[in-house]
Amino acid sequence: MEPLDPDKLPVHLAVIMDGNGRWAQQRMLKRIVGHQRGAETVKMVVEQASLMGIKYLTLFAFSSENWSRPALEVRALMTLLKKYIRQETARMMRKNIRYNVIGNRSDLPDDVNETLDSAINQTAGNTGMVLTLALSYGGRQELSAAAARMARDVVAGKVAPEKITTELFGTYLDTGGLPDPDFLIRTSGEMRISNFLLWQLAYTELYFTETNWPDFTINELHKALADFQSRERRFGKTSGQIMQRGGPLNA
Ligand code: FPP
Repeated sequence: MEPLDPDKLPVHLAVIMDGNGRWAQQRMLKRIVGHQRGAETVKMVVEQASLMGIKYLTLFAFSSENWSRPALEVRALMTLLKKYIRQETARMMRKNIRYNVIGNRSDLPDDVNETLDSAINQTAGNTGMVLTLALSYGGRQELSAAAARMARDVVAGKVAPEKITTELFGTYLDTGGLPDPDFLIRTSGEMRISNFLLWQLAYTELYFTETNWPDFTINELHKALADFQSRERRFGKTSGQIMQRGGPLNA
């Protein structure tokens, strides 16, 4: 494996953890077994990202659309999530990781919300990596809710319409306070964004791998990050302009 340059890691890594169900079905196992194995991959990626010094890790754990899955699978996912958060909070404290959640928390069962509140409160003072779980999250839902919040401020006279900028709008999003992701990994071969961070992914480098999430290893993570380091991020500028400013990734 080629070594990674610690100065050129993404500040914010986002992941669409896909393929748990297919991983299980290919092995004649129940889908939830795929999710359980997926939770083990979550532990590995959280640990590795924090060790590498990545500042923000955002995981798409449950989409707004996932509520339409069979009730048994939804219940099992909620139970798994609660178990993961309960079990991992002590490790998050040791690793100085702070929990954060984006998405429509009012959809989540009370016991899941209580577990989340407790984990968020316990880790609130941690200054290392911010681990954001996207739960009952949909990009379009986030955008329309943000627009509604901003419209209320306009009606209340707190915001003048001519003062609305992309920066101001960003503060109304669930991700207000987080930088946009530099790098997005999606597993399982699907090449879609699937309603994830629609606004925030505007200039994010995208990476797709055929590997299903339960099979995603440290080596795969390393390979993905090496690929990120080879990219030239231009943000709409020319290659020449970027090179003048100190080389790729320093734009
Ligand atoms: C996508 O696979 C995955 C999900 C909908 C849930 C992701 C959940 C986990 C990785 C485990 C629990 C999470 C945490 C944070 C501990 P899929 O079921 O859509 O797979 P398929 O496309 O092959 O059916």
